[in-house]
Amino acid sequence: MLAPGDKSISHRALLFGALGTTSLPIGNLAPGADVRSTGACLRALGVSIADGRAPGTVTVRGVGPGGFRTPASVLDCGNSGTTMRLLLGLVAGARVGCILDGDASLRSRPMRRVLGPLRAMGARMEGQGGPDDERAPLRVEAVATLRGMAHRLPIASAQVKSALVLAGLAADGETRVREPEPSRDHTERMLGAWGAPVRVEAREVVVTRLLAPLALPDSLDVPGDPSSAAFWVGAGLLVPGASVVVRGVDVNPTRTGFLRVLERMGARVELEPEPERAGDPVATVRLRGGQSLRGTEILPAEVPSLLDELPLLAVVASQASGETRVTGARELRVKESDRLKQLVLGLRAMGADIDELDDGFVLRGPASLRGASIDAAHDHRIAMSFAIAGLVADGWTEVDGAEWADISYPGFFRQLGTSTAGALEE
Ligand code: S3P
Repeated sequence: MLAPGDKSISHRALLFGALGTTSLPIGNLAPGADVRSTGACLRALGVSIADGRAPGTVTVRGVGPGGFRTPASVLDCGNSGTTMRLLLGLVAGARVGCILDGDASLRSRPMRRVLGPLRAMGARMEGQGGPDDERAPLRVEAVATLRGMAHRLPIASAQVKSALVLAGLAADGETRVREPEPSRDHTERMLGAWGAPVRVEAREVVVTRLLAPLALPDSLDVPGDPSSAAFWVGAGLLVPGASVVVRGVDVNPTRTGFLRVLERMGARVELEPEPERAGDPVATVRLRGGQSLRGTEILPAEVPSLLDELPLLAVVASQASGETRVTGARELRVKESDRLKQLVLGLRAMGADIDELDDGFVLRGPASLRGASIDAAHDHRIAMSFAIAGLVADGWTEVDGAEWADISYPGFFRQLGTSTAGALEE
């Protein structure tokens, strides 16, 4: 089987394509609602994005740095934190005033982490709420130029880092961004490869002003999303007799913490290299089901490399023998839902022995899971993780809000049904 195009790379391909002025045809663009939100916002800013003939192909024709027009309506970022935070960086010094908004989940997510450092660079933008945090809707005023500065992020976040890098492209002087641990590095890789003045120096991203349109490649083929492929890896491991082959998966090391942890738990997952795509390493992932797994400890430094896979990892760990302990994952509380709370509630309802920590969880396995009614809490990754738990539970598991999978993986439940009717291989 194939995983859909990577969501993080797809957002960036559209956003960075906007900083060029030549046509950029993109293949295998992530099909979910989040990336469509980015496309709609960019169109409102004057960028042309035309659907190609084949599904998943689009052509972006950007406006170059400084070419954005003031949008006629609110920029609706839907459910997508990546859209909202990266767009803030893009519009901060772009001489356009605009309002960014989103759905109820996005309106509840913290935005001060981006607004604060952008304001320190001279951006004029504000959100709603008290002094401790600001939330959408966000108002951005037109500003002609920003000042470069050095940022030290208190938590690793690719969204915050990327917003500051984009703002740095419209700033005088040098902008530096340092994270406590490395987060996904697609922004610095893609912008660097496309001729932007962005480089990585001793684990710090260094940016100067972008004076000319980006030198876009002739085309871009988005690799498969490792966070979506992870569901098939999880399913394959848990179902005895399963055989899983997922082709074309992005295996950028900042994204493969899940696979490294599974290996530590005793899983055998084979990676067969494929040609690079979008500047990232790509592989076919193969594994067989019914492997015996043991619990492990996931340390805070590993969390950024498997952040989005943690709910699924909890499901897999429920079938491993011994204790699995995750700490340093407080960020999960401010994702599309409070994922720590939801994963603990759901796994407990299915009979797992799991305790919630302030910044993680402790789980003792293996558990004989029983089917239960699970609230997806408007969160795509919770919906899909509990569908995988349902594969090994006794009786029916009902996921209330299964349609939220469409945020990153439309067709997930259909594919799950057809794959498990036979083997998981295609
Ligand atoms: C993303 C960064 C991560 C991740 C999200 C996508 C990105 O968020 O959870 O799904 O594409 O930059 P944070 O930056 O908030 O950690």
